[in-house]
Amino acid sequence: MTSSQAQPAAIPGDAATTDPRWLDGVDLRQLAEAMPTPFHAYSASAIQQRIDALQTALAGLDATICFAVKANPNLAILQLMAAAGVGADIVSVGELRRALNAGIPAERIVFSGVGKSADEIAGALNVGIMRFNVESLDELHTLQRLAKTQDVMARAAVRINPDVDAQTHAKISTGKSENKFGVSIDEARRWFAARKQLDHVQLDGLHVHIGSQILSVEPFRLALQRVAAFWRELEQAGHPITSIDVGGGLGVCYRAGVDEPVAAADYVGVIREALAGFGGRLLLEPGRHLVAEAGVLLTRVIRVKPGTERTFLVLDAAMNDLLRPSLYDAWHDIVPLVDAARPMAVYDIVGPVCETGDTFARARELPECVAGELLLIKATGAYGTSMASTYNSRPLAAEVLLQNGRYAVVRRRQHFEEMIAGEQPARNWKTP
Ligand code: LLP
Repeated sequence: MTSSQAQPAAIPGDAATTDPRWLDGVDLRQLAEAMPTPFHAYSASAIQQRIDALQTALAGLDATICFAVKANPNLAILQLMAAAGVGADIVSVGELRRALNAGIPAERIVFSGVGKSADEIAGALNVGIMRFNVESLDELHTLQRLAKTQDVMARAAVRINPDVDAQTHAKISTGKSENKFGVSIDEARRWFAARKQLDHVQLDGLHVHIGSQILSVEPFRLALQRVAAFWRELEQAGHPITSIDVGGGLGVCYRAGVDEPVAAADYVGVIREALAGFGGRLLLEPGRHLVAEAGVLLTRVIRVKPGTERTFLVLDAAMNDLLRPSLYDAWHDIVPLVDAARPMAVYDIVGPVCETGDTFARARELPECVAGELLLIKATGAYGTSMASTYNSRPLAAEVLLQNGRYAVVRRRQHFEEMIAGEQPARNWKTP
């Protein structure tokens, strides 16, 4: 990497970040002159640092990082992953195609999800992905049937539901027995006992993913201890396990001074300890940890609207650009780009969408803002654009990748014609 600017890269999430105006050596105020807001910007250097730190923590282990594509499926982000030797965790054929397009080889792709359709399974078998993380007996039988049709051997892991509370938001908790994900250890035991009947599925892996935005090592430890006990039991019963996929879920800092994420090294320390003696391949499926804090959403204040009870800061970004606050009441730090000394004010920070839920923050203290000024919504690199929509017929926002003082548009803002493409008048009526 070459540095073309004197300004150091300011990276959200790094202790060194002081001036919100700079991201990866790029002056965001100048960038916002060149591009209409709202848009998402990602620091390539910050993503690279996260990948490097995780790979360093994994040194000496036979481990493959498979980026959870759902966190940020932009081609340029996936190309960064491919260049760093990172694979992909996919949950649909759409994600499979994105990963392959970006140059992630099929042998570094794992396929998770409770609702893989027969077509999707056949497509993934066809390109020879590394492994299916199987979540139900019906899926296992479908995999066997389709692999037989193609005369190939599918590699599979059982997704274990370890019944562990991830201590996170209920909507992103996946490892409790009441959740739709995975199967109990009891059920998995029966699958292995009947393993020999599957002549086109090599069932020799375990998978676990207990949830997302996890800020303590304890849920990981507990889940991995349960998986490790099961792996040892299976080995003793004559069922060799060649891979253990520990899922994703590492939390990040959304609220400076409050959220204390687990460091990659500590997380890997827990994996090393819980799976000590395991000689097979480890797979990791981080999403948010690699990209969330590398991203910001740049937005302008459209107007300040005094109400009878509250003062509203109306932004040009909305819930269609970043759904997390509306969907999970998620906190995102929001800062003005200009750090001038100003009196403080309390705002409800909202978007233009016609829903009360289109609220980024309630009663948030900010320096007094004026119409037209730029704000940063921070830590939006994961589950930002991937959950975006065109609600209220607002076009999908642009995305920009930044690196060492330069920027590249990696998705231009959607045109109106693209938004309505595929729609047509009801002309050709047919009976089914
Ligand atoms: N592996 C599997 C099987 C998953 O289902 C997920 C996320 C991951 C890995 C990656 O998890 P991460 O490392 O990013 O926590 N939209 C929500 C998050 C949903 C996560 C779904 N699964 C949010 O914005 O918080």
